[in-house]
Amino acid sequence: MQDKSILSDIVTPLLYWYASEKRELPWREDRDPYHIWISEIMLQQTRVEAVKGYYTRFIEALPTPAALAAVSDDALNKLWQGLGYYSRARSLKKAAIEIVGKYGGSLPRTYEELRSLCGIGPYTAGAIASIAYGLPTPAVDGNVLRVYTRLLADDRDISKQSTKDVVTAALAAIYPSGEDASNFTQALMELGATVCVPNGAPHCDTCPVAELCRAHTLQSEQSYPHKPPKKARRIEEHTVLLLRCGDKYAIRKRGEEGLLAGLWEFPSVKGHVCAKDALAAFGITQAAHIEPTPPAKHIFTHIEWHMQGYYVALAKEIPDLLFVTKEEIEGRYSIPSAFKAFLALL
Ligand code: ADE
Repeated sequence: MQDKSILSDIVTPLLYWYASEKRELPWREDRDPYHIWISEIMLQQTRVEAVKGYYTRFIEALPTPAALAAVSDDALNKLWQGLGYYSRARSLKKAAIEIVGKYGGSLPRTYEELRSLCGIGPYTAGAIASIAYGLPTPAVDGNVLRVYTRLLADDRDISKQSTKDVVTAALAAIYPSGEDASNFTQALMELGATVCVPNGAPHCDTCPVAELCRAHTLQSEQSYPHKPPKKARRIEEHTVLLLRCGDKYAIRKRGEEGLLAGLWEFPSVKGHVCAKDALAAFGITQAAHIEPTPPAKHIFTHIEWHMQGYYVALAKEIPDLLFVTKEEIEGRYSIPSAFKAFLALL
C-alpha cells in the first residue's frame, strides 16, 4: 500500500478510537484558543499529569490574553515555577502583549498570524489552528513523529527539521477539517502518548490502526523512530551560598540573558571553591558560622550543574543582596528547581 493510502486510511478508525478512549483533561473541556495555546506550551516540556495542576492554576490566575499581557514578571515566574524553560513563559507574555495590541485581545484566526507570534512555532500554530479553529493544519510533535515513522516504517532521522517538514506535508495532504481536524490532531497525540509509547514495547493489541502499521507487520515497532545518539551535556561547577541573617536568607536576581534569565537565585560563584573564596566574592570576611551543605546536581537539556554549597550565618546583611524570609521565598520569589536541594535546607 502507498504511504498516502495508509495515512488516509487511519483517519476514520483513529477518530472513532479517540471519541471513546480519550482522557478527560482540563484543556479538553472547551476549544478556546487561549486555553489550547497555554496547554500546548506547557505540554512541550512536562508530562500530562504534571501539567494539569499548572494549567488550572495559570488559567485561573490569568484567564485571558489581556491578563497575561499585564502580569508582572515575578508573578508569571511564580506560576511557571517548576515547569522549567522560563523563556517560554516570557515568550507567552510577549505574544499576549502583541495579541492585545494587534488583535484586540483575541488570538488571531489563521495559521500564519499565529506563527508570527513570539514563541509560536509550526507545532503550536498547527495545534491551535486545528484544535481550536478546525483548520487542517497538522501539529507534529514527538508523539506524532513516533506514530508516523512506525506506521510507514520510515527510518528518517526525526531530529532533523527536514523530517518534520516531510511528515507535516504528508499529513496535511490527508487532514480532515472542522471538528474532525480538532479531534484528529488530538487523536494522533493521544495514540502516541498512550498506545504507541516510547521506551519499551508499544501496546499494539489496543491500537486501532495496528493492521495498517508497517512496523507492526514487520514486528519492528521498537526500531522506530530513528534518532542519532544524544550529545554529552556540558558540566558546570558552582558553589552556592545559603547566607542567613536572623530569619532571612540572601537571594539575588539573575541577569537578563542566558539560562534562567531574570529569575531569583541563591548567590553563587563559578567553580567548586572553598568557603573563604566564595564569601570573599561577596565582600564577606567574617561569618558567625559556616557549614558545608550536601552536594547537589541539576540536569538541564544541554548542561549539568554540579553544585556544592555552604550554609553561612552572618551578623549583618550584605547591601548588594536581597534578604528575605523563607515564607517570602515560597510565596513571592520564584527560585528555580535547580536550587531545590538548597531550598530544602532553609
Ligand atoms: N501532548 C501534547 N499536546 C497534548 C494534548 N493536547 N493532550 C495530551 N497530550 C499532549
